Amino acid sequence: MTTKASRVQTSLDLYEKAGQLIPGKTQLISRRASSFAHPVSPIYASSAKGSRFTDVDGNEFIDWVNCVTAVILGHADEVVDNAVKEQIDKGSLYTVNSAQEIELAELLCEIIPSAEMVRYTKGGGEACAVAVRIARGTTGKDKILFSGYHGWHDWYQAANWLVDPVTDEFPFSGIEPIGVPQALAGTALPFVYGDLDGLKKLFEENKGEVAAVMMEPMRSERPPVGYLESVKQLCHDNGSILIFDEVSCGWRISLGGAQEWLGITPDMSVFAKAMSNGYAMGCVVGARDLMEPADRMFISSSYWSDNVGLAASVACINELKRRDSTTQFRIIGEKVRAALEGAIDSVGISATVTGIHTAPTISFDLPDPSIGPQINTLFIQEMSKRGIHSPTSFKATLAHSDEDIAITAEAAAESMKIIMRALEGELENLLEAEVKREPFRRLVT
Ligand SMILES: Cc1ncc(COP(=O)(O)O)c(C=O)c1O
Repeated sequence: MTTKASRVQTSLDLYEKAGQLIPGKTQLISRRASSFAHPVSPIYASSAKGSRFTDVDGNEFIDWVNCVTAVILGHADEVVDNAVKEQIDKGSLYTVNSAQEIELAELLCEIIPSAEMVRYTKGGGEACAVAVRIARGTTGKDKILFSGYHGWHDWYQAANWLVDPVTDEFPFSGIEPIGVPQALAGTALPFVYGDLDGLKKLFEENKGEVAAVMMEPMRSERPPVGYLESVKQLCHDNGSILIFDEVSCGWRISLGGAQEWLGITPDMSVFAKAMSNGYAMGCVVGARDLMEPADRMFISSSYWSDNVGLAASVACINELKRRDSTTQFRIIGEKVRAALEGAIDSVGISATVTGIHTAPTISFDLPDPSIGPQINTLFIQEMSKRGIHSPTSFKATLAHSDEDIAITAEAAAESMKIIMRALEGELENLLEAEVKREPFRRLVT
């Protein structure tokens, strides 16, 4: 009998093969092996159910990534999947329109504070691009000021031409802007989250030219008090539209998004990912007077009417409501935080759990901060060996159980013991993986 060289050998073999056929090897940068502990972490899955997935080598993992938050109820949720199966039997795409477009629009307008009118897409970056098109078309201005990550489209990636990607990691280290027209340089300008003076300066330098501010309103921390309100005021003083990109922060924190949780209503918003629990779907919502001019803009695509995404979204949102997801995510998140804090205390390592309840994150307090990337990779590596797939930040679904949390905390404690040894001088021997690469900076915590 031959023994496998690695417990994720099939993943490694497939990844090598992918290199021959697929440039970049994966479709999402965050799915590249370099985003985890390569070659220890799994790279390919064969099935997923609830809080767990099974990789192509047959190893089971508790999943704290959940498709970079796109899965919110749990993998292969029965309610959503049954709605999709029923829909498939009735037709996945119609020649004429689907009445579910209206049903979902009504649901979104009911729960999202900024929603009066709605357009659909199949993904988050695409929805951001539609929002930018509408903002430019509605205001008659071209420039976009942005903070955060907003996808792969030209309007946004043009910002990469503002820096030397080799020497300057702001805003996307390691990814070159080639392929994006250089003529777009200067049409999308980044600002640093929280720096109101910097944003004011950008408005002054581009007076009368700013169509919109596109920003992630928050990620893992609460915004500084009054910050978002001041951004909104700045936008309105300059005749610009405030767009919240809630592709990542929406849904878990509150059914109506971060805007509902924080009590601030932007002019327009973008949602995607978790709105359909793993089926392709995205949307742009906004105030009637800003959205209505989209009627005259070229914003059109065949699969935006796809019934599968619509059915999945309606079922997912209704399930989130029925299960009181906002309360449940608080309960689960606080349990995860307490369990991780318990692991830290039991080991006696110098670390804290930071972040709001939807993103409890372990921060190691290191004598030499420059070894942070190695230590984080070591943590991911050791967790992976123990059947836990997670970076240092933990994003739950409603399917994560007390047992999942307890197993995770136990694995975290064992992994932290290994980190203690690494800090005592054994790091080189213990780290089997390549240091995890940060693909881009998001400009927002
Ligand atoms: C805030 C934000 N906007 C946009 C996107 C892009 O979404 P998608 O990958 O569905 O195109 C992402 C994806 O991570 C995101 O986090």
